[in-house]
Amino acid sequence: MDLKLRGKKALVTGSSRGIGRAIALSLAEFKVDVAINYLRQRSRAEETAAEIEARGAGALVVKGNVAKPEQVEEMFGHIRDAWGGLDILISNAASGVLRPATELTLHHFHWTMDINAAALLPLVQEFVKLPSAGEKTVVAVSSLGAIRAIRNYAAVGASKAALESMVRHLAAELAPQGVRINAVSAGTVDTDALTHFPNREEMLQASLERTPAGRLVSTQDVANTVVFLCTEFASMVHGQTIVVDGGYSILA
Ligand SMILES: NC(=O)c1ccc[n+]([C@@H]2O[C@H](COP(=O)([O-])OP(=O)(O)OC[C@H]3O[C@@H](n4cnc5c(N)ncnc54)[C@H](OP(=O)(O)O)[C@@H]3O)[C@@H](O)[C@H]2O)c1
Repeated sequence: MDLKLRGKKALVTGSSRGIGRAIALSLAEFKVDVAINYLRQRSRAEETAAEIEARGAGALVVKGNVAKPEQVEEMFGHIRDAWGGLDILISNAASGVLRPATELTLHHFHWTMDINAAALLPLVQEFVKLPSAGEKTVVAVSSLGAIRAIRNYAAVGASKAALESMVRHLAAELAPQGVRINAVSAGTVDTDALTHFPNREEMLQASLERTPAGRLVSTQDVANTVVFLCTEFASMVHGQTIVVDGGYSILA
């Protein structure tokens, strides 16, 4: 299948593992060169890079905390030096404090907002400065916690709601400049992130039982929709949040 992505350059934040890694590998399947961003686990980022190269695409490993604008700027500096431009930005890296809202401090709240929501601003601001071959696309990875109440998820849910709102505002502002911005909101996906939930097993079981499609969402399911949004087949999709949850959220 030719998605006309060959030769494009992408940055996927938080792509050393989990959903970001699946997005990076899927883009590489279509011969997109990928910059793999990570924060702590360089060896995992290098493993992803090797798998990208095995698919016949170029890989660049760039360390940086997306919540620190100076590190974001430095990351884009490396990309500019290596590639001269960038066509695709996937804002996927996320973290956050998982506690009942009554136990959250403002420090927890701001820390979570900085990584999951505010980071989109410097990322997009640096992205639009770089040249690209044609249209530029941005996809932010969100979660159902943006629109639903999930136990221990108040800070992350609020950050994802802010992220989805920023996607709409940035999309309206930047569409005239040829920048297309959307979000993909995923249901529960069994990645390392879930090990931080005290009720991981219960969450997975509850998600499975409630999902009309009869199975949990995989990292590949999320990556497939992200890749679609990066193609010209989605050229009139602007500022949307596409839900990938096997129907979980349509039930009353
Ligand atoms: N898993 C789910 O059920 C689920 C559901 C809906 C949406 N999502 C969303 O999907 C995205 C990926 O989640 P995941 O489950 O794949 O997470 P994950 O397995 O915990 O992986 C997180 C990735 O982000 C990187 N990272 C964390 N903080 C960072 C920072 N401050 N700066 C740069 N990189 C950072 C990590 O790098 P290091 O390895 O170096 O730490 C890692 O590559 C997130 O936006 C998440 O909210 C997940």
